[in-house]
Amino acid sequence: MTAPADPGGAPFTGTASEHRAHNQAYWDERVALHLASDLYDVDRFRARRDTLRPFEVTEVGDVTGRRLAHPQCHFGLDTLSWAARGAQVSGLDFSPAAIAAARALAAECDLPARFVVADVYDAPAVLGAGAYDIVYTGFGALVWLDDLTRWAAAMAALLTPGGFLYLAEFHPFAGILDETDGRCVTEDYFAGGPRRWESTGSYADARAVTTANITVQRDHTLGEIVSAVAGAGLRVEFLHEHPVTLFARTAALRRGPDRLFRPPAGAPRVPLTYTLRAAKPPL
Ligand SMILES: C[S@@+](CC[C@H](N)C(=O)[O-])C[C@H]1O[C@@H](n2cnc3c(N)ncnc32)[C@H](O)[C@@H]1O
Repeated sequence: MTAPADPGGAPFTGTASEHRAHNQAYWDERVALHLASDLYDVDRFRARRDTLRPFEVTEVGDVTGRRLAHPQCHFGLDTLSWAARGAQVSGLDFSPAAIAAARALAAECDLPARFVVADVYDAPAVLGAGAYDIVYTGFGALVWLDDLTRWAAAMAALLTPGGFLYLAEFHPFAGILDETDGRCVTEDYFAGGPRRWESTGSYADARAVTTANITVQRDHTLGEIVSAVAGAGLRVEFLHEHPVTLFARTAALRRGPDRLFRPPAGAPRVPLTYTLRAAKPPL
């Protein structure tokens, strides 16, 4: 039996530690679910050692020998994909279950990696300030964070001068469109937050029975994200918007041979994901 989903996200009025506690409990419980899911397809990772999207590989460039930090790494599939490409990787997540799974996968695949349990805002203190050439943050990370100014400052602090932040995320505009064919705006782009949601299962298995079902999330506009990055002293090198995404967020999307989802040929396109690269100025 599953609890009914919230009709919509009500404003969350709790404290920062309640915000964090809800989300951590939610993520701890999702780890086993995701490890077993078709969406994450861990067996495919075991065989190929690569979950990165082609545009990420092109836009980040050669990572051989480069020190790469991956905050909010979940159980490390993308982190370990960078390791398989030759980066010296450090993954961080506040979920002990996620980090235990990441460490186990790294050992099983014999890929060198460091994984630590910590809050993303504490990343420089835990991973090392100024210790990274690349900070990589992947899809589905920012919505969990209430304070983008603090987040961007932490990402900038991780970087060595001349290093860069690479962010690959779901486009906030896509998040306000209906889930049938994505042609109608159904949410307020400027709603902000934080907002409280309650739902069972997860995006990887909507029908799974779960008990930790409350999350606190905040939608950030594209302007807020770019402004936070620039405000942390990073120089934006590019912001690319992509008409492809990682899952069938509307029934109209079709999966291509590259495993990405896109509208059928000839249908109007909207930005579904984006990538941003921003460099820390050299000394
Ligand atoms: C959607 S997942 C990241 C997705 C990742 N790109 C993937 O597909 O595997 C979001 C991750 O952020 C982590 N997270 C959320 N809030 C966090 C925080 N304040 N500090 C550290 N990790 C956090 C969660 O534990 C979860 O593993």
